[in-house]
Amino acid sequence: MTALTLSTAAAPGLRADAIVVGVAKGAKSPVVAPGAEAVDKAYDGKLAGVLETLGATGAEGELTKLPAPAGFKAPLVVAVGLGEEPAKGAAHGTEALRKAAGVAARALGGAKKAAFALPVADAAAVSAIAEGVLLGAYSFDTYKDNGNGNGKGAKAGNGKAPIAEAALLGAKPRDKEHKAALTRATAVSEELNRARDLINTPPNDLTPESFAAIAQAAAKEHGIKVQVLDEKALVKGGYGGLLGVGAGSAAGPRLVKLSYTHAKAKKHLAFVGKGITYDSGGISLKPAGHNETMKCDMSGAAAVFAAVVAAARLGLEVNVTGWLALAENMPSGTATRPGDVLRMYSGKTVEVLNTDAEGRLVLADALWAASQEKPDAIVDVATLTGAMVLALGSRTFGIMANDDTFRGTIHTLAEEVGEPAWPMPLPEHLRKGMDSPTADIANMGERMGGGLVAGLFLREFIGDGITWAHLDIAGPAFNEGGPFGYTPKGGTGTAVRTLVRLAEQTADGAQG
Ligand code: BES
Ligand code: MN
Ligand code: ZN
Repeated sequence: MTALTLSTAAAPGLRADAIVVGVAKGAKSPVVAPGAEAVDKAYDGKLAGVLETLGATGAEGELTKLPAPAGFKAPLVVAVGLGEEPAKGAAHGTEALRKAAGVAARALGGAKKAAFALPVADAAAVSAIAEGVLLGAYSFDTYKDNGNGNGKGAKAGNGKAPIAEAALLGAKPRDKEHKAALTRATAVSEELNRARDLINTPPNDLTPESFAAIAQAAAKEHGIKVQVLDEKALVKGGYGGLLGVGAGSAAGPRLVKLSYTHAKAKKHLAFVGKGITYDSGGISLKPAGHNETMKCDMSGAAAVFAAVVAAARLGLEVNVTGWLALAENMPSGTATRPGDVLRMYSGKTVEVLNTDAEGRLVLADALWAASQEKPDAIVDVATLTGAMVLALGSRTFGIMANDDTFRGTIHTLAEEVGEPAWPMPLPEHLRKGMDSPTADIANMGERMGGGLVAGLFLREFIGDGITWAHLDIAGPAFNEGGPFGYTPKGGTGTAVRTLVRLAEQTADGAQG
């Protein structure tokens, strides 16, 4: 993991592999962003012109490398696009800074040290740049041979290790707010990167059992209470959803409960994550072309896990319980069949019409379990439906809720932290499509609006009077395209920052 420092050092004397500066899109030509004054001066104030000559416009995601000016210890200047120049007196937006820092961090893979001379208007900017660097520098190389003969990867998937050290120039090492921003960004980004590692780990190594063991170890390290229900305990407790989905796999299901508590907490949040370590579809087997990335089907559980650990590391004054609903969905002679009826933890019966609609079954048990503690709110996170990907594309998650205000709050927080999201409805008329002649409800309804149907199914397992929201992250959980901004290929860690922000806001609100 990249080590971050705040630094007031001047750019020219810095011993680093590169100095990163910001360039924005001006009215007619690119403009050098604040923070890079010393660098611009060393080019005789002509940096903007040089960049324009090199084809730079200042657009988001753009990267231009140029030799450092004479007298600089660092050999390279990297100019990264910040998008439109803000209005006079206004600062660059945090998401533009986060993205730009991420683009530069990715491009500087393999470097020992880089200095970031991006515009630091306030602590929020420090936080955004720090997150961008730490998230952008991420690489997953556990399974890549580094050529040293031990079969263990040490260099990044693209052949380059993440930057070892990054200095944020213009941020003040003695400023309390700047320091706090760095501490927060580090905790959140490290846990988010840990979620990415879990998502990227192949399903032959990440099973419900090994995921539970990882959660147990992390909980112990951070003073979080942890309880793992294994198959025996699930049978005893009557968790028919988790058992039904896990029935076909040699790797049995688990329900993990992580309880972070603070002595001064006034509010209690429950986060519930879908943790299908591999979704083959089960007896309703997915065809080739639809199962290659299904190791990502535990992204919800990974996000919940990361958010609870981050809340603990930040010592937030709120109680947060994380529920990881872990199972592997496989076909076999012991697998649940289309037509089987499961008796869920809540006591309701479900006719399984399609074993590929398994996420709602494991979530139903975990949501009912979470409801028994009567938290102030429940938020579940799940790669639940292909329909949500069709509706919102691969970068935006859908938010459904039984409370419009709560849905709006989550949408606002998601936008604030730079996680694209959009509110979706739960139309009542879609509920009757799940009526079953045999059981209380079927696990499938109308095909149209499939993401909303799934949301309506989950709503059946929320305890009376409890505020609840459901985040369908099937689109943004796993990036099948090339990297962009601070988002790598593969597991993205989406929803982690929204959950942490919600925990922070709940803690603050309860204090005030
Ligand atoms: N895990 C999938 C949803 C998914 C699709 C996640 C694409 C990530 C990318 C889920 O378990 C599933 O298979 N859903 C079915 C439900 C249907 C059978 C009612 C779907 O969306 O097709
Ligand atoms: Mn499925
Ligand atoms: Zn699934």
